[in-house]
Amino acid sequence: MIFKIRKILNKKNRSKIVCLTAYSKNTAKILDRYCDIILVGDSMANVLYGHKNTSKITLNTIAQHTQSVKKGIQKSLLIVDMPKGSYPNKKIAKKNAKLLIKLTKCDGVKVESNNKNFNIISELVNSQIPVMGHIGYTPQFKKKFKVEGNTKKKAEKLLKEARLIEKAGAFSIVLECLTPKAAKAITNDLDIPTIGIGSSLNCDGQILVTDDMLGMSGFYPKFVKRYAYLNTNIEKAVKKYSSEVKKSKFPTNKNFFNES
Ligand code: KIV
Repeated sequence: MIFKIRKILNKKNRSKIVCLTAYSKNTAKILDRYCDIILVGDSMANVLYGHKNTSKITLNTIAQHTQSVKKGIQKSLLIVDMPKGSYPNKKIAKKNAKLLIKLTKCDGVKVESNNKNFNIISELVNSQIPVMGHIGYTPQFKKKFKVEGNTKKKAEKLLKEARLIEKAGAFSIVLECLTPKAAKAITNDLDIPTIGIGSSLNCDGQILVTDDMLGMSGFYPKFVKRYAYLNTNIEKAVKKYSSEVKKSKFPTNKNFFNES
């Protein structure tokens, strides 16, 4: 098991695991100083490419962004989302996960659960590929964004799913939009760490989409705390630039090269 994975496992019941998403080098370089895990999420489909959902993002596009992210990372664990359709069966999943690792030198992959594909996880893990699971609201398989595990029966189903993901060999599991009670039951039950998004403090770590928490994406459900309002800052800067260009205030002597 690679050292970086062992470090994540050791944090269970000791210290919280900090995760964020990145799609490019400059962002990854900043995140790397403060994060344990950086995820190249297929959320780039919505956030960067303006798609309605994550279904059309390709393995190639994810690989290219990961190559950029990798250049900004020194210490964090780099996990990459397997895009929709890239793991329909064990054979294709293994081929594509190996390709992602070969192209990007990432540390592992994330696979969304459809409550059936546990054999995909075990196939990848048996091929020495670290896997992060993902349950609850899983955009690749569920159309509607809603709270998950909000009845006793649904919470028990999620716990069963999480146990099977752990049994298949995943090293951690994302819990998306679970009720605090469901998240607590799973976090207390599993030996592997849980990473929450919209699933309360009852998780071993937290993840957010970086563009959301920086106030850039326009997608701000209740669980997205905005730590910055970059859209406003960018708008201010662009407005000023536009005005200075129009009024011939930019560039000044300081901004071009005089003959020597
Ligand atoms: O694609 C993504 O960014 C994700 C996180 C929200 C967990 O899967």
